[in-house]
Amino acid sequence: MKILVTGGAGFVGSACLRYLLEQGHQATAFDNLCQGHSSSVPEGRLIQGDIRNTGQLADAMRQVDAEAVMHFAAATYVGESVSSPEYHYDNNIGGTLSLLNAMRQTGIKRLLFSSTCATYGDNPKPPMDETAAQIPCSPYARTKLAVEWMIRDFAHAHGLGFTLLRYFNASGADADGKFGEDHKPENHLIPLILQVPLGQRDKLLIFGMDYPTPDGTCIRDYVHTSDLASAHLLAISATDENTREVYNIGTGNGNSVMEVLKACETVVGSSIPFEVVARRPGDPPALVADPTKIKSQLGWKPRYPDIKETVETAWRWHRSHPTGYSEPRLVNS
Ligand code: UD1
Repeated sequence: MKILVTGGAGFVGSACLRYLLEQGHQATAFDNLCQGHSSSVPEGRLIQGDIRNTGQLADAMRQVDAEAVMHFAAATYVGESVSSPEYHYDNNIGGTLSLLNAMRQTGIKRLLFSSTCATYGDNPKPPMDETAAQIPCSPYARTKLAVEWMIRDFAHAHGLGFTLLRYFNASGADADGKFGEDHKPENHLIPLILQVPLGQRDKLLIFGMDYPTPDGTCIRDYVHTSDLASAHLLAISATDENTREVYNIGTGNGNSVMEVLKACETVVGSSIPFEVVARRPGDPPALVADPTKIKSQLGWKPRYPDIKETVETAWRWHRSHPTGYSEPRLVNS
């Protein structure tokens, strides 16, 4: 299948792109390289462009003769979305509107959208299945929920087959340690923990220990990018012009920040200092997937259900690429 992958140079997008290529599909990344890394994309598979430029997108779709689009490109920093909502609304909502218009211009009728568990937000009852109430508690999450509705409305009005994939916390790295997570600035839990044993940070700052969870720290469902990639291939293969679907992608296992820290200590083989600080605005207490639907309908099975194995892959990547893909990392400790 010929697939245009927006955000295909990002952490999750590039993992999916590489997997699609490995499985014999003709996938091409469309990425503005604002957060993405060209070196995470195999040679000749990257078109540089911005999703807010409809003409550029439509040209790219025609250039690769795309039959389907996987839409990863988005602003994803929850904290930044609280301080600069305009950037998130412009990129995520404006960018998706531009994408849907480009798809109409070029007649592409199959879409996978990277939504998020963050749309469940303040829902008090994990694990969540796809029918759980969506109560987003950050501007980032609100943009993703708005886009889910935008896609449904376009599908209704103009005919479009879509699958919405609500990811839980994307993590880990390719098994061979060649590709992994590299955000600048980094703000995700596992890379930040591993920066401590790498000597790039004095300690982990834990954002709040007064949540209504067993140890007081937030609970998340950490799902490996390889498992996200296999879910995407299953989902696009099952999406045709008439599809209107939504799936959670998560392991079904929740781990608290403290449990993730302990798993990292086990993998690294040394203790990792931490300090508890104030809660981070926009963080819900507990998000854990009920992935029954994608397992039973698409036959998806995570290869990395255990946080320790996910951390092992991340550690292999970070240890061999301490400054990420290329440019030196700026570290705040
Ligand atoms: C968020 C989104 C997720 C999105 C991802 C993309 C929510 C609920 N989830 O994940 O949908 O795909 O961003 O960027 O909004 N933590 C610390 N100390 C740190 C860093 C993090 O204690 O230095 C804690 C956080 O408070 C959180 C957990 O670790 O409870 C995970 O944080 P992070 O890795 O940033 O991911 P989310 O914010 O859950």
